Amino acid sequence: MSQFSRIGVVGCGLMGSGIAEVCARAGSEVRVVESGEQALALGRSRLTASLDRGLRAGKLTEAERAAALGRLSFHTTLADLADCDLVIEAVAERLDLKRAVFKELDGILTDPAAVIASNTSSIPVIELAAVTTRPAQVLGVHFFNPVPVQRLIEIIPTQVTDAAVTEQVMNFAADTLGKTAIRARDRAGFVVNALLVPYLVSAVRMLESGIASAEDIDNGMVLGCAHPMGPLRLLDLIGLDTAQSIAESMYEEYKEPLYAPPPLLRRMVAAGTLGRKSGQGFYGYGENP
Ligand code: CAA
Repeated sequence: MSQFSRIGVVGCGLMGSGIAEVCARAGSEVRVVESGEQALALGRSRLTASLDRGLRAGKLTEAERAAALGRLSFHTTLADLADCDLVIEAVAERLDLKRAVFKELDGILTDPAAVIASNTSSIPVIELAAVTTRPAQVLGVHFFNPVPVQRLIEIIPTQVTDAAVTEQVMNFAADTLGKTAIRARDRAGFVVNALLVPYLVSAVRMLESGIASAEDIDNGMVLGCAHPMGPLRLLDLIGLDTAQSIAESMYEEYKEPLYAPPPLLRRMVAAGTLGRKSGQGFYGYGENP
């Protein structure tokens, strides 16, 4: 069985809103939880804007948009997820936050077979599984930004995840969500970020050392290597705070200097220039990021 009937999504930021959208578009009932009304309203409008964008682009019909919205509900308490059979956690990339969510969810979910997944990109999944009473039903399910557009999901079983649960989630990703699922071991960065993050932080170091301007670095990779966007614009899309957290987790895991967040990245995060979501990163985004 690959279908989950009720899916909870915890966190409605860039990733959570995209995950909730694709699950609802695929036909699942989805409950979204955010920590407060303001964050919830912001996430909800981001999700609606993305559905509208999909509609304008002809990716879904008006009826499909309405049906997806009808399958979504928005909440501010984890207790509302009690009867979910799959919960995907997509809160900020911080171990303490994620562990607290996993611990609370574990006590709330009534179905003993319910699966808890994390959209982490760099935190060891086993450290989240370990705070639950159901470690065999915990795994990583890593989506890519923008979630409705990117076709990949990384599935990360830990050393104690039940093989049948991994199979069920792999099938859900492929058959229900229509994504391509790849499997990776529970090592910080998995496949994609292990390759991507050194490249992104190298671009920041290159800018910082004055080798080339932001525009020229990005043009180099777009026009020279046919990447859809350059590394600095991609960092703006991911969010500089998120990128810094991922780089820190990877540095923590491997102690390889190539993963360490460079000073310029840290300073920009400290200054609140977080990329598109804050309106300013390596580039400015005005009113409409
Ligand atoms: N719903 C459905 N479809 C959508 C959509 C939405 N909300 N938003 C955009 N699309 C579709 C568009 O209709 C368009 O489709 P066609 O090609 O069929 O016309 C396509 O997606 C591209 O969109 P746009 O034309 O609006 O924009 P673009 O061509 O400038 O592409 C982009 C924008 C998709 C972001 C592209 O630049 C891209 O893929 N960039 C790289 C992004 C990337 O690398 N993401 C991974 C980041 S790493 C990560 O997420 C993991 C982590 O842990 C950090």
